[in-house]
Amino acid sequence: MKAAIVTGSGGPEVLKVQDVPEPRASKGEVRVRVMATAVNRADVIQRKGGYPAPPGVPSNILGLEYAGVITDVGEDVSGFEPGDRVFGLVGGGSYAQFIVTHHRTIAKVPDNLSFEQAAACPEAFVTAYDAMVSQANLKSGEWVLIHAAGSGVGTAAVQICRALGARSVGTSRTKDKIDRAMELGLHRGIVIEKGDFSDEVKTIVGDQGVDVVLELIGGNYVVEDLECVANQGRIILVGLLAGAKAELSLQRILSKRVMIKGTTLRARPLEEKIVAAQLLSKQIAPLLENGELKPIIDKVFDLDDVVEAHRYVEQNDSFGKVVLNLED
Ligand SMILES: NC(=O)c1ccc[n+]([C@@H]2O[C@H](COP(=O)([O-])OP(=O)(O)OC[C@H]3O[C@@H](n4cnc5c(N)ncnc54)[C@H](OP(=O)(O)O)[C@@H]3O)[C@@H](O)[C@H]2O)c1
Repeated sequence: MKAAIVTGSGGPEVLKVQDVPEPRASKGEVRVRVMATAVNRADVIQRKGGYPAPPGVPSNILGLEYAGVITDVGEDVSGFEPGDRVFGLVGGGSYAQFIVTHHRTIAKVPDNLSFEQAAACPEAFVTAYDAMVSQANLKSGEWVLIHAAGSGVGTAAVQICRALGARSVGTSRTKDKIDRAMELGLHRGIVIEKGDFSDEVKTIVGDQGVDVVLELIGGNYVVEDLECVANQGRIILVGLLAGAKAELSLQRILSKRVMIKGTTLRARPLEEKIVAAQLLSKQIAPLLENGELKPIIDKVFDLDDVVEAHRYVEQNDSFGKVVLNLED
């Protein structure tokens, strides 16, 4: 099969499309012909040598999400059969024409979505829903601060807030992305120029601050988050694009009784990945099917152009997801 292989640590040029052996489905697994996948920041970090693949997934093939068709089912698989259109998350390996994955970690693709659209959903919507709702206990009527509102996860979060009746204020360093996020339901936007935003957030939502922060940027953004999060607010740390270190006021955390929680999907054990798949099939897919949530795709590249796709993501110009097409 054709796959994009990481041939060493470095820039996008270390990715080479090559022929490699096809995987086979073992007990409990299905084999999927991947029709589309998407580029994630974790792929970029792994390509640079900073995020090794967890045990049990191919170490030299990137890719954390997919949409495709089941070709084979292993022993003890129920609920799925060859020909089913499915999508989901994997620990790696989806920049390839075939993957094998546990049958309880997959979900059926809603009929109204193409494979490219479906491949744009799992990481963005599951990450945003899991972080804001499952972990930060977001409720209707609450205010959420969504950083990088034009990112893949950010555009998903904005739509989930609208669907749940929560109010969102988003940030971006790019005004155009704020304007486009407002079309998706973002209530208010802040264009960040020098890294500060807490005063503007309080002007928008009131001095009490936001109930939840979806922190996709990390670094010194968390210092500012603490200034504009409400008493007993929840900061959910999902991404570290601005760095993995910050000097935080413990006094602020203590006196405001703030909860700061980190999260990652990839490192979870199988049981928790099954929970994430149920979130995709039971909470998110119905909203994709009725149009309340929409996949937001910035660009689609062929797998053969994976180097260009990685370059494009690293330019920070994309709004929504960058998808890789693997159809013949
Ligand atoms: N924990 C998990 O399981 C998990 C899962 C998925 C994603 N993530 C994380 O979530 C974050 C978003 O992922 P994504 O795929 O949605 O991202 P994305 O679509 O690639 O967009 C990221 C955006 O963040 C902004 N940005 C980049 N570097 C920045 C910096 N140094 N300071 C401020 N803004 C910066 C850029 O937009 P503007 O500059 O135009 O605003 C960029 O377009 C990433 O950190 C990713 O690693 C975590």
